[in-house]
Amino acid sequence: MNYFTYQQDQLYAEKIPFVDIAQRFGTPCYVYSRSAIEQQWRSYELALASRPHLICYAVKANSNIAILNLLARLGSGFDVVSAGELARVIKAGGDPRKVVFSGVGKQAQEMEMALRAGIKCFNVESIPELHLLNTVAGQLHCKAPVSIRVNPDVDANTHPYISTGLKENKFGVGIEEAETVYRTAAGLEHLQITGIDCHIGSQITSTGPHIDATRRIIRLMARLKSAGINLKHIDIGGGLGITYADETPPDPSVFINEVTREITDDSIEVLIEPGRSIVGNAGVLLTTVLYVKEAGHKNFAIVDAAMNDLIRPVLYDAWQQILSVRQHISSPKRAYDVVGPICETGDFLGLDRMLTIASGDLLAICSAGAYGFAMSSNYNSRTRAAEVLVDQDQMYEIRQREHIEELYRGEQILP
Ligand code: LLP
Repeated sequence: MNYFTYQQDQLYAEKIPFVDIAQRFGTPCYVYSRSAIEQQWRSYELALASRPHLICYAVKANSNIAILNLLARLGSGFDVVSAGELARVIKAGGDPRKVVFSGVGKQAQEMEMALRAGIKCFNVESIPELHLLNTVAGQLHCKAPVSIRVNPDVDANTHPYISTGLKENKFGVGIEEAETVYRTAAGLEHLQITGIDCHIGSQITSTGPHIDATRRIIRLMARLKSAGINLKHIDIGGGLGITYADETPPDPSVFINEVTREITDDSIEVLIEPGRSIVGNAGVLLTTVLYVKEAGHKNFAIVDAAMNDLIRPVLYDAWQQILSVRQHISSPKRAYDVVGPICETGDFLGLDRMLTIASGDLLAICSAGAYGFAMSSNYNSRTRAAEVLVDQDQMYEIRQREHIEELYRGEQILP
């Protein structure tokens, strides 16, 4: 179900017109639908209900503590990749025992923080990382729970920058060396082997690559078992795609059913780390048209949001739908490049979009709930956008627009 719909000629977030949100909080601002987030999470939960499982929402997709808190209330776990993300989960009321810690470059102080918090496990990505984790756990007189991130060498058929499961990617340990890595882990006193995991990429729109990866991991688990290494959980990563334009990814429940069919041992706990598929289509970036510039061969709509607010279009060639908040049904449409105020040619949110636009109009950049605000920056010394969560007929400002003074907080002029 889509929670951003037109009623008469006005675009709504759940039961609130976007015009009201803009009036109250200004633009640019990110707007999320609580129902949309919860529906996606529940779709995963329902599909996994018949076996031991844990959904570890990938915090990197959208780390606002209000959203983490909503997921924690549903019982979600979390996948974090830094001390900062772990701190956010704890602040949001998430249970550290449901946290997995991923990432190729964990540092000693991050390991220490996670061990003290009592996380579920570290997804370890290399032998040197195993040794450092063993040392840190030894200093704290405990055993670190460990799962090895295995790189199954599967092509996820996605944008090269968000493909992670190929041999040439920096992630995980190669499937052919995984057994050696597990043996090394087994020989280290302060490590406790608990599971295995993989993550092959993001915005994957079919189940084939995940099925392939899971089969390879299951075969590896059988080999490990004969070597006396028994694992309690398998983490199949995240990566399920969403519809931006005309992609047709499976629903989370279909995806889970098809992938978990490969895991015949019902006693093994299944972990997943979805990010985009939970929040991506639950958020839009709301922006105001500042100027319309009609330059003969080309029309530009210059808006108050920019590449610092949403980097995906220029970074990944991403296409995100742009809707007029007020539909002009009878007026003719023209092609516009929707661009921001930043001094870069790459500062666009959409190119050649057929729209009816006048200065002062509001536009909604769709599918911006994942990797939108989370990847925003202060480039051109622009303050970061506000974030608003809509719950039926209520709207909550879950992050204030940054103030200009916050831009140089921590900076110092020489004496
Ligand atoms: N687990 C790990 C270890 C990951 O690296 C990622 C994403 C996820 C889970 C969640 O994947 P998802 O379900 O969201 O696809 N900024 C890019 C996406 C980068 C994804 C990085 N890793 C974008 O805007 O498309």
